[in-house]
Amino acid sequence: MSDEPRKRILVVGATGFVGPALVDEFVRAGYHVICGVRNLETAEKQLVCPHVEFLKIDLNEDLNPNLWLDRLREHKIEGVVNNVGIANEFGDQSMENVNVNAPLALFEAVTFYCQENLEANRQPQDVSVIQISTTGVDWPDCDAYRYPKSKKLIDETLIETTGLHFIIVRPNIIYEPGRGHLLLEQIVRFPVLGYIGNTAIQPIHCRELAIGVVRLMQNPFKASCSILLATGPEALTWKNVFLKVSEALGIKHSIFFRVPLIIGQFFTNLIQYMPQRLLSRLGILSKLDNDTIEMMTKGSTGDNSEWLEKTSLQPMYLFDTYKNFAQSSDTYAKYVQSIRDRKGA
Ligand SMILES: NC(=O)c1ccc[n+]([C@@H]2O[C@H](COP(=O)([O-])OP(=O)(O)OC[C@H]3O[C@@H](n4cnc5c(N)ncnc54)[C@H](OP(=O)(O)O)[C@@H]3O)[C@@H](O)[C@H]2O)c1
Repeated sequence: MSDEPRKRILVVGATGFVGPALVDEFVRAGYHVICGVRNLETAEKQLVCPHVEFLKIDLNEDLNPNLWLDRLREHKIEGVVNNVGIANEFGDQSMENVNVNAPLALFEAVTFYCQENLEANRQPQDVSVIQISTTGVDWPDCDAYRYPKSKKLIDETLIETTGLHFIIVRPNIIYEPGRGHLLLEQIVRFPVLGYIGNTAIQPIHCRELAIGVVRLMQNPFKASCSILLATGPEALTWKNVFLKVSEALGIKHSIFFRVPLIIGQFFTNLIQYMPQRLLSRLGILSKLDNDTIEMMTKGSTGDNSEWLEKTSLQPMYLFDTYKNFAQSSDTYAKYVQSIRDRKGA
């Protein structure tokens, strides 16, 4: 590693599922990461690595651009990733504030910060912003669902903002063995498997997403002001997803049946009351609501060629992932490392 000071990146939403993978990949790539988190105590436990520091934020409340401007100045931020996004409003969260109003304030602050640095002949003057969105924004009836509607609104505002270097990344369903909202390796061990809908999705591995975001930040002008569909390499129904993972893990006995949406929603409401330990044993790591389960039936596919081209990534296949994962943690770590090391589609 060179002796040059590490570039300072603000990851807003550094905890949860995708956040820690982003932090890890940025640190591996030689960055110093300022982790924007709601709960400092949880974050310090979840993000144990060198070259990180923590900044307490709350997008439900941090709606003033001046607050963000002070943070950008104080921490000498040189790049921003907004990873925060909520699909439902548990607790006192307002989706409008968290997904739209607070990011708007942040982006306004970044624009002002670059401008004031330019006028004062100081660095940094070109702070790139990467916004993590969702492929749901492309649904023709996206406005019928509050989550993709809110993501669409912030994406559109970003596109219209002048003087800001941004990249919008729209991931499909994100997965990773051992982490995430659904543990596929655990779910497929049940002898009977229910799935909802027959539409296709293109799940993307969390590491493919995180490595790709780091590469975009390393060379932001290659994709500046663009929208990239971070979809996985294969279009699969949920049943196909379960079959691929089962096959990779050498499990042959599953019986599949299609669950009507209304039954799925009944189960979803039921699991709100289940203890987290039981949910974890079922392979479900986060609570869903009726809208979320309905969105899972809608499917979503898209062309990932621009994503692969701009990030120079080799896509990660579901079968390869779980095959390597099933062999040993060492084999799996080497597989992920091979993706980090390889460049070019
Ligand atoms: N998972 C997927 O399949 C998927 C698919 C497409 C797009 N996405 C997008 O990818 C991004 C990451 O998703 P994820 O699955 O990692 O979600 P997640 O696990 O729910 O994490 C969301 C992050 O947002 C933070 N957050 C929530 N409310 C906040 C608030 N009021 N102030 C500050 N931070 C707040 C969470 O912090 P806490 O840890 O404190 O809750 C966490 O760091 C989101 O923008 C999501 O919309 C995800």
